[in-house]
Amino acid sequence: MTEIIGRGPDDIVRSYREAFGDDRLIVVSNREPYEHRWGEDVGEVLVKRPAGGLTSALDPLMQSVGGVWIAWGSGDADAAVVNQEDRVMVPPEDARYTLRRLWLDQHDVNRYYLGYSNQFLWPLCHYRPALTRVRARYWERYRRVNRRFADAVLDESRGGGAAVWIQDYHLALAAAHVRSKRPDLSLAHFWHIPWPPVEIFEVTPQAGKLMRGLLANDLMGFQLPSHRNNFLRCALTLVGAEIDWERHTATLDDHTCHVRDFPISIDIDSFVEAATRPGSDEAVARLRDRYCPKDGQLGIGVDRMDYSKGLPEKLKTLDFLFERYPEYRERFTFVQVGVPSRTDIEAYDELTQKVDRLVWEVNDRHGTPGWQPIHLIKQSLPAERLAILYRAADVCIVASLRDGMNLVAKEFVVCQTDERGVLLLSRFAGAARELGHSLQVNPYDPEDFARILRDALALSPERRAELVRANQAELRNIYDWMADIFDTWGRIRNGSELDPVEELS
Ligand code: UDP
Ligand code: G6P
Repeated sequence: MTEIIGRGPDDIVRSYREAFGDDRLIVVSNREPYEHRWGEDVGEVLVKRPAGGLTSALDPLMQSVGGVWIAWGSGDADAAVVNQEDRVMVPPEDARYTLRRLWLDQHDVNRYYLGYSNQFLWPLCHYRPALTRVRARYWERYRRVNRRFADAVLDESRGGGAAVWIQDYHLALAAAHVRSKRPDLSLAHFWHIPWPPVEIFEVTPQAGKLMRGLLANDLMGFQLPSHRNNFLRCALTLVGAEIDWERHTATLDDHTCHVRDFPISIDIDSFVEAATRPGSDEAVARLRDRYCPKDGQLGIGVDRMDYSKGLPEKLKTLDFLFERYPEYRERFTFVQVGVPSRTDIEAYDELTQKVDRLVWEVNDRHGTPGWQPIHLIKQSLPAERLAILYRAADVCIVASLRDGMNLVAKEFVVCQTDERGVLLLSRFAGAARELGHSLQVNPYDPEDFARILRDALALSPERRAELVRANQAELRNIYDWMADIFDTWGRIRNGSELDPVEELS
C-alpha cells in the first residue's frame, strides 16, 4: 500500500479542542452506529453495525473525540440495553462514547423516515423527481420528529457549551429549532447525499422552509463543489438569501451560514488492517478458489439495494459482456453483495424483484452445468469480510446513477494490498472526482460499459499495480476530512478569517 501521510485520531482530538475547548461534541443522525437485536437464544442480545456510508464514516471519529451521538433506536433490543436516560456506551466491546437513543413509533417510521425522508428527499436529491411521493402527513411528521431530535440536543447541551453536528437529509429542520432556543451553540450540518440543481429542488412544496432550516447552521458541508453551488443557488432563488460567491456564504435574517465542500473518506488503517490480518491470505485464496477455480477472474459489487446504485445497469453490462465476449464464460465470475434496504418502500421492493429477475436471466442465458456467472448475496457483511472480498477481486464495479460519494469505491482501493484489483467507477459517483485512476464508466451505456469491463479484465499485472498505486495516492483519510471540518468550523466560531475557497466549478 502506498504510504498515506495524513492526520490520525490524536490530531482530530487536538483540532477539536483547539476549535471548541471543553465544549461537548453532539452528533445527531437518524441512523444509529450500533443496533441491538435479540438473538435466537432466550435473552441473547446481538450487536449489529448498520450498512451505510454515514455510520461507517463517523464511528471512528466519535471513538477518537468522544461525546454523544443522538440517533433513532431502531433495533428490537435497543430499549433493553439503555439506561434511564436512554443512553448506552459504545462500541460495546470498548466503550468510547455515548449513544443516546430516540424512539420512533410506527407513524414516525412510516411518515418521517420512509415517507418524507426516503420517498421525497432521497429521490429528489438523487435527481429522480418522478420517484417522489408528496403527502401532507409526511411533512407534518418530519417537522415533529425533527423537533424531537432538536429537543434531545437541547437536553444533552443543558448547562454548557456544545458543538452540534447534524447529519444528512432526515434532519433539515433541527438546526433552526436548536438555534431558536440556544443561539449560543455552534451548529453545523453535513449533507451526505447530492444537492440537486435549483430546477429540481424547487419542486419541493416546502422548499423555503427546508432552506430556512438549513441556513440556521453556521456551517453547511457538502461532498462536492457542485452540490455546494447548487445549494447556494437555491438559497438565493428560493429564499432570497444574500450570497457572497467568493466566501461562499449565504446570509438570511442577519445570520450567515458558511457553505463548503468536504469530500468524505474512510478509515484507511482499519481497512488495510482487516485486509492483511493473520489468516487473510488463506481467506483470499479460499474465496478465489470458490468462485473462480482454474485461474479465472473475480468481479465484485457491494451496494445497498437502492435504485441510485445502478444495479440493473450493472447486470445488463454483465449480460453484454458474456454475449459479446463469450471467451469470458466460465472465466469470469461476478459476486454482488446487495444489502436489503428500506424494504417497506415500493420502489425498493420493485428494484429487488428486478435485480432477482436479471440475475436469474443472466445465469440462465450464460451459465453452464458447473458454473454460475453471477452470485447475489442478499445480506449485510461486516467490514472485516468485505475487506477480504475487496482484496480477492480482479475488478470491482460501482455503477451508481447518482451518488454523493460512494465509500465502497474508496474501501476497495485501499484493500488492494496485492495491487490486483481494478475499479470500474461510474462518472456519476462523487468518488469519481478523486479516483481518477479508476476506469470511469457511464452506467446509462451498458454496451460501452461492457467493453470497458473487458478491457479491465485484460489489463496486465503491471498496469493494474500502476492504477492501484495512483488511486491510493489520491486518497485522503477520514481524519483529514474531520480535521478540515473542525478547522473551518472552529474559525467560523472564533470569528477568524477563513481560507479562500476555490473558483466556482
Ligand atoms: N457496507 C457494509 N456491509 C455490507 C455492505 C456495505 O458494512 O454488506 C458498508 C460499506 O463498507 C460502506 C457503506 O456500507 O462503508 C456503504 O457506503 P456507500 O457510501 O458506498 O453507500 P451508501 O450505502 O451510504 O449509499
Ligand atoms: C446513505 C445515507 C445515510 C443512511 C444510509 C443507509 O448513506 O446518506 O443517511 O444512513 O444511506 O440508509 P438507511 O435508510 O438504512 O439509514
